Amino acid sequence: DAETIANPYLAHWNENGASSSNAATVNGSIADDHPLAGLIPRKVTGPQARKIMEGDVNPFSVAPKPFSEGYKKILSKRKELPVYAQMDDFYQLFNNNQIMVMIGETGSGKTTQIPQFVAYSDLPNTQKSKGSDGILAPRMIACTQPRRVAAMSVAKRVAEEMDVSLGKEVGYTIRFEDATDRRTTFLKYMTDGMLLREAMHDHNLERYSCIILDEAHERTLATDILMGLLKEVVQRRSDLKLIVMSATLDALKFQKYFNDAPLLKVPGRTFPVETFYTPEPEPDYLEAAIRTVIMIHQAEDAGDILVFLTGEEEIEDACRKIKAEADDLAATNPDLCGPLKVVPLYSSLPPAQQQRIFDPAPAPLTPNGPPGRKVVVSTNIAETSLTIDGIVYVVDPGFSKQKVYNPRIRVESLLVTPISKASAQQRAGRAGRTRPGKCFRLYTEKDWANELIEQSYPEILRSNLANTVLELKKLGISNLVTFDYMDPPAPETIMRALELLNYLAAFDDEGNLTPLGEIMADFPLDPQLAKMLIVSPEFKCSNEILTIAAMLSVPNVFVRPNSQKQQADAAQAEFAHPDGDHLTLLNVYHAYKTNCRDNKTAADWCWQNYLSHRALMQADNVRSQLQRLMERHNLGLVSTPFEDKRYYTNIQMAIACGFFMQVAHRAGGNKKAFQTIKDNQVVSPHPSSTLDHAAEFVIYHEFVLTTRNFIRTITEVKPEWLYDFAPLYFDPNNMDGEVKRIMSALKARKEKGGASAKRR
Ligand code: CDP
Ligand code: MG
Repeated sequence: DAETIANPYLAHWNENGASSSNAATVNGSIADDHPLAGLIPRKVTGPQARKIMEGDVNPFSVAPKPFSEGYKKILSKRKELPVYAQMDDFYQLFNNNQIMVMIGETGSGKTTQIPQFVAYSDLPNTQKSKGSDGILAPRMIACTQPRRVAAMSVAKRVAEEMDVSLGKEVGYTIRFEDATDRRTTFLKYMTDGMLLREAMHDHNLERYSCIILDEAHERTLATDILMGLLKEVVQRRSDLKLIVMSATLDALKFQKYFNDAPLLKVPGRTFPVETFYTPEPEPDYLEAAIRTVIMIHQAEDAGDILVFLTGEEEIEDACRKIKAEADDLAATNPDLCGPLKVVPLYSSLPPAQQQRIFDPAPAPLTPNGPPGRKVVVSTNIAETSLTIDGIVYVVDPGFSKQKVYNPRIRVESLLVTPISKASAQQRAGRAGRTRPGKCFRLYTEKDWANELIEQSYPEILRSNLANTVLELKKLGISNLVTFDYMDPPAPETIMRALELLNYLAAFDDEGNLTPLGEIMADFPLDPQLAKMLIVSPEFKCSNEILTIAAMLSVPNVFVRPNSQKQQADAAQAEFAHPDGDHLTLLNVYHAYKTNCRDNKTAADWCWQNYLSHRALMQADNVRSQLQRLMERHNLGLVSTPFEDKRYYTNIQMAIACGFFMQVAHRAGGNKKAFQTIKDNQVVSPHPSSTLDHAAEFVIYHEFVLTTRNFIRTITEVKPEWLYDFAPLYFDPNNMDGEVKRIMSALKARKEKGGASAKRR
């Protein structure tokens, strides 16, 4: 009928002959007895959606079934969220616009509710279409998150809210972990980086009917690139809708960028937060944070505490200290202090432990005793991406770990940096969710006014763009300079990226992707890692390099508790390889696979050897995924026999072939002093390194910028390999001093000896 034809959305399905074999739909319309019967996609109104939400039958489960009691209980909670009250306005804007911007305070229900609202409009489960793989799959709704933790945790919550199974109807996708089902998943929470990867293979993102870019205010690299990309895709696909969601009030920039897209503003329903500053600067913010938590616990009314720190180690350390002090107080002074539950939160925490932030606070020990309390000690994750109900006190030392990139010396590092005023405001806001709260800033009011910048810089201005430039090329963006960035990166940064990709032979001299570059872009790894993996069959060590790449892609496997440093070092020394840390990682993985037959023995063995079982299991998983990619590209899985004296040398060569741009040369007689090639930074091997002798050249995986410059995860390489694999990069004309002399000699020998020279 006219209605259907006029609707570009339905027209699209009909073009693809989408619905014939789907039980719920007949020619684009829905079977009469289905709870969604009568709804017209993209014409749905608030009252219609609410009627189904409050009905008895679940329209989104694979087979319609009655709603459970739990569903109804959660629904009553959802109805209290500010976003819920805006449902009619939402549909009004959504139905009539292709792009919309939405802002609302953290906790107002954007992330959990809006994708569900969209589901009632797009009816993704009834609108299936065949993909290029021939599988009949729902047209999905994607909701991107900058953080893995948020994607997982929110997907779990929404599956509960919708009364369906996680990984079936509602799922999540993060790097190396896909909890979705191609045939049934219609709502997918995913990291922004994963959607970007999908776009590399499907430039129009055909599998999606609606894309929600959440937490856009964070301005992550991937979100920024997605914004530029989607701005083009929506022009090519009139049926694709885009929602940009943000927690900050500064929506104008997003609206302007998206051709004056309309704004839906969710009024906040927060309580006043009283802010306190320290009279003097705090010399040690960690100690000050712990002291403040204990003070709140002793002196303030009931209510949970949220502390912002910068990283895993610091957080675990703080948790231990807070717990020890609080237990001590509660034991000696039960009339003054109630029980305190301390919960850490950071991205590498396993999902089951992440869930603990939602546990209730402990009850007081006696009915009239002092209150029990929960303290969550978190990274920036809790700033806007996760809402923890019940927080009344916020402790804000004013720091976070941020990426910084210096294109001049080609070093990207994570540095503990003062936060912005916008971040500080967000943090304080977390205290006023359920009732009036207090925020303790561990810096002076003067520093707040004079030292904090207004907004953090977008990540695209603070990153090494090698990966991004490779992705953009694979996305079909030919001109990286005219691409419509919201904030264009520095030309020097793009130059550096192009240069690296050219040296790695991913780009030719005209800046086009080479066949090698095409394969590199397919690996969800940094370009150097991808290159090392792809060349490894030529060095007869792809099985080993797979392991090393996997071990480098997971959190640190070595556990070194403060109280047992010596024991830990002794246990780990068993795996140490004298030529370097990459080889040590290989030893650890081999020992793990040899000694661990089942989960129980693995856990015990890891515990005894001061290794992280979780990280090793993750490495195993990453390894098999990378192996599948190798197989898909017909890259052979081979090893040099262990007895062969070239076993380790071959591995070192493959590493050098990927990482020749991260090489340091020993400076002078000191075995601990190195200088990076070309950039001439003075660096020391990280104290954890197992390299035990005075190597002349090492490649390093990481440059750690602290009070001293460290290179971490280092392995010895030979200058002749470097010259052989990257003669342009190591051209003596571009080198100084000792390295120039060495490379000149190698060059002369190669020119004289030609093919007969001793190589490899
Ligand atoms: O995205 P936004 O910050 O606007 O809010 P949200 O993440 O959708 O969260 C809305 C509410 O859902 C929170 O205030 C919590 O009450 C609840 N929620 C929850 O209980 N458990 C989760 N894992 C996520 C949200
Ligand atoms: Mg959110």
